[in-house]
Amino acid sequence: MDLNPAFAARGCFVTGTDTEVGKTRVSAALLHWCATQGWRSAGYKPVAAGLECVDGQWINTDVQALRLASSLPLSDAQVCPSPFRAACAPHIAAELEGRRIAFDPLLQGARDLAAQADALVVEGVGGFVVPLDAEHDTADLAQALGLPVVLVVGLRLGCLNHALLTAESVRARGLRLAAWVGNTVDPAMPWVEANLATLRQRLGAEFGAVALGHVARLADPTPQAVLAHLDPAGLQRLFAA
Ligand SMILES: Nc1ncnc2c1ncn2[C@@H]1O[C@H](COP(=O)(O)OP(=O)(O)OP(=O)(O)O)[C@@H](O)[C@H]1O
Ligand SMILES: [Mg+2]
Repeated sequence: MDLNPAFAARGCFVTGTDTEVGKTRVSAALLHWCATQGWRSAGYKPVAAGLECVDGQWINTDVQALRLASSLPLSDAQVCPSPFRAACAPHIAAELEGRRIAFDPLLQGARDLAAQADALVVEGVGGFVVPLDAEHDTADLAQALGLPVVLVVGLRLGCLNHALLTAESVRARGLRLAAWVGNTVDPAMPWVEANLATLRQRLGAEFGAVALGHVARLADPTPQAVLAHLDPAGLQRLFAA
């Protein structure tokens, strides 16, 4: 079951060099930018592992952030059809509940949102290739969705290798690495500018990916604050229908 690109006139699949590198923060900023364009924007997190009980409700903070940054009024269940309690690899979190992740409903959830939205921002899970069940991983999901990929590079030692491995994997799946964002996860990282220059050169020249920006470590990484670090011209190119 493929997501016909006509379903999502505009959209992207946000992946990262690892877990906890800023995919949700960047996805929320992208959704906010889409809203500033007057578009109906929808965030989608196909699978979320890690629920917290807040005021008697089980919530996932990624799902909540994407829902709040979407301009369409969405429920948590629309943003994420497959939430699991344990904060661990998704197929393990599912097993802990005696469940399995069903792949096709993840695509259907994206179809349903794309049918209502002008722009769909899908946040991946962890890095690019995370197992979902015995047959599928998150790269299969990205492939079936067919959206351009945005790579969030968590800036720390080792990120060049992770960024290039991810870029190669995106290409091997027949997808376009449309853009990348450098996000500060280690404010003490030395030679940040030299690393960014290398990423610009390699991801730009070899993969054609647009550099969307370098996000500083922010006291409060709201969608607006993160968006202030992203390049409007790059965003226009990313979301050009
Ligand atoms: N630029 C930043 N400045 C300050 N805090 C940040 C920044 N980027 C991310 N964070 C914080 O770092 C943590 C991880 O970021 P985020 O949740 O966006 O990562 P992720 O890649 O989506 O993680 P996951 O793999 O769990 O989905 C969060 O607490 C987030 O608020
Ligand atoms: Mg996240």
